[in-house]
Amino acid sequence: MNAHDRKEEQAVRPFIRDLRRPVLDLIGPTYLLDESYCLLDWNPAFEELFAKEFGLFIGTHITALMNHMDNGAEVIDRSLNIFRTADVPLTHCEVFTLRHPRFGAVTTQKIAGQIMDERGRTKAWVVSLNVLNADRMQELWLELMAAIEREVAWSQYAVAYDRVFEASPGHETVLEKALTGLAGGAECLHVGIGTGTPLLRQLKEGGGRIWALEPNETLLEFFRKKLGAQQRLLRADYGPRLKASKGRPRNISLFSPGHFDSIVMFDGHYRADDILRVLEESHRVLKKDGLLSWTTFSKETDFEKFFGSFGAQGGADLKELRPWLAAYQEALKRLDPRIRSLSPGQIEGLLADAGFEVASMENIDFQGGCLSIKAARAEKETSRHSSRAARGGVRITTLEGGVLDLEKADSRRIYDELLRIQARVTFADDLKYLVDEPAWNSSTEILELGCGPGYFLANLARYFPQKRFLGVDVDKGFVDAACRRHGAELSNAAFDTQNIYEWRPERKFDYILLRFVAQHLPDHPALLARLKELLRPDGRVLVIESADKYAYKFVPRVPALEDVFTQMASKEKNDREAASHLMALKFMKTIGYQKMLISSMGEERAHLFANWFLLIAALVRREHGAQVDLGRLALEFHKWKEDKHSYGHWSLEYLLLGK
Ligand SMILES: C[S@@+](CC[C@H](N)C(=O)[O-])C[C@H]1O[C@@H](n2cnc3c(N)ncnc32)[C@H](O)[C@@H]1O
Repeated sequence: MNAHDRKEEQAVRPFIRDLRRPVLDLIGPTYLLDESYCLLDWNPAFEELFAKEFGLFIGTHITALMNHMDNGAEVIDRSLNIFRTADVPLTHCEVFTLRHPRFGAVTTQKIAGQIMDERGRTKAWVVSLNVLNADRMQELWLELMAAIEREVAWSQYAVAYDRVFEASPGHETVLEKALTGLAGGAECLHVGIGTGTPLLRQLKEGGGRIWALEPNETLLEFFRKKLGAQQRLLRADYGPRLKASKGRPRNISLFSPGHFDSIVMFDGHYRADDILRVLEESHRVLKKDGLLSWTTFSKETDFEKFFGSFGAQGGADLKELRPWLAAYQEALKRLDPRIRSLSPGQIEGLLADAGFEVASMENIDFQGGCLSIKAARAEKETSRHSSRAARGGVRITTLEGGVLDLEKADSRRIYDELLRIQARVTFADDLKYLVDEPAWNSSTEILELGCGPGYFLANLARYFPQKRFLGVDVDKGFVDAACRRHGAELSNAAFDTQNIYEWRPERKFDYILLRFVAQHLPDHPALLARLKELLRPDGRVLVIESADKYAYKFVPRVPALEDVFTQMASKEKNDREAASHLMALKFMKTIGYQKMLISSMGEERAHLFANWFLLIAALVRREHGAQVDLGRLALEFHKWKEDKHSYGHWSLEYLLLGK
């Protein structure tokens, strides 16, 4: 081919078309709207930044996003004038500002362009939100990068897995197990198409209508090709039976209660950020006695054994397969923490938690051990909560992906998880305060008094690697746990068992933190005297406490929680207004005072909020012998989370003191 031919060849290079398809998924926050301005699709960056946080769904009108903008009302007003006229512009630009729960004030420049149909009429809009500024700009871009990286990793994984799957001994068995008992039902849902093999098999076997959700564009493309090939080969038309769409596991929420006879999750749940929520939603959309078929790797899956078993074989087939095995192994390395995150026991717990009765759970000798689970939707909608109580437990999924039985677990375990969630939920706001605090920025030697198991301190030490942290707590168990958990990871953090009132170190500190500790301490004047001794002359003490006795708010109300707090007020000895009392003593100068609302906005945070308060209630029940119906509280929180208009917040005080 000469240079001229090559140029011509390049000019019509067909694969550029193929390359354009995944482009949307690998760029900054972008979404598609239909001609009526309803969301058709969006990319992972938009999912991470907006859709997840504001609970958006495909099909929702775009005003649902605008409502979260600071200038939302203004933007909606303007849009009505521009987009409800006969003369709709072909492109449009405007600035959106919003307060993001994780990244603070975010300013974006919207640029939108129309996509035309064959007759030159509006078919859709493509809209990019280019981030111009954010309070936490660096964090924001790191998260966007991570979201895109995850997307690519799943594409890489899926392509290799597809080849490896069909070459793996036992794959026929695993398919058969996944699909037995499902064929009879009229409506089936596949959550995550995965390699598409189980779905294609089910289509081939006949039966009712199948709905399928898959978020990854590469996988969908892969699936479309395989689907076309199978239809041609079998001279079949699955059109009337198959409804496959791009959608995330949480899109199950869009289906009506009791819609499906069966649900298939074949590896699909790894994409879900909150598996319990997906299971709860699956439970909701299944008919009574409907069946969930869940096939999954677990913590016990031994991939090394699996790859080893291929080495023992040989021959031409293996030669061809080798590059795919290597690619699969490579992709697994990236995604392993998600793929092998749950133990069989945790899986069972999650299912029970979501209201399922496990009918069978079999460990199949496939790819180093794979679980094939069949679970039925329990008899009555409300029975799940009473059956939980009957089994002796209201369970929550822990931040590590385990399961914690709130009625059985001991106080220490509950307290530990409570502090872990609390540190997670408040950290963005703690940072918001600290990064603008001059004394914090210039300090290097930080002391946290009453550090507990060290979750808050570890967050800070990770975020501010140039500072040195010491955490002390009177509770040796907590300090040992802190050393075990964070000691090896963090070279700038140390922990020590000490009582604030008795500890007399030689050194002094630039900055002292007391977070939810002052309320536990009996003698505030003595505390302030100790703080003065521990502080360098121009150092600062930051006290973080609840703003007042009833500093939380849930809308709609969660009456069972109000009950818990009323009982707590009469039983506990904590000083819930400790910050104000310290300020009133005037033993140290008040340098600053700020109130901060910790919000529950966003699906994941709402879930964390609910678990956080369930843990508080469980602790109050254990420690103060309060009468707490945890089952009822769990049910009320479940309803609160399901309510589209729900929100919640906890209000905190940040009190800054100096000598
Ligand atoms: C609610 S926890 C706060 C943990 C941590 N500051 C956080 O925000 O995650 C309160 C901690 O104060 C500790 N504490 C109570 N009295 C203390 C004292 N006299 N000396 C040191 N620590 C104390 C408790 O052991 C407990 O770990």
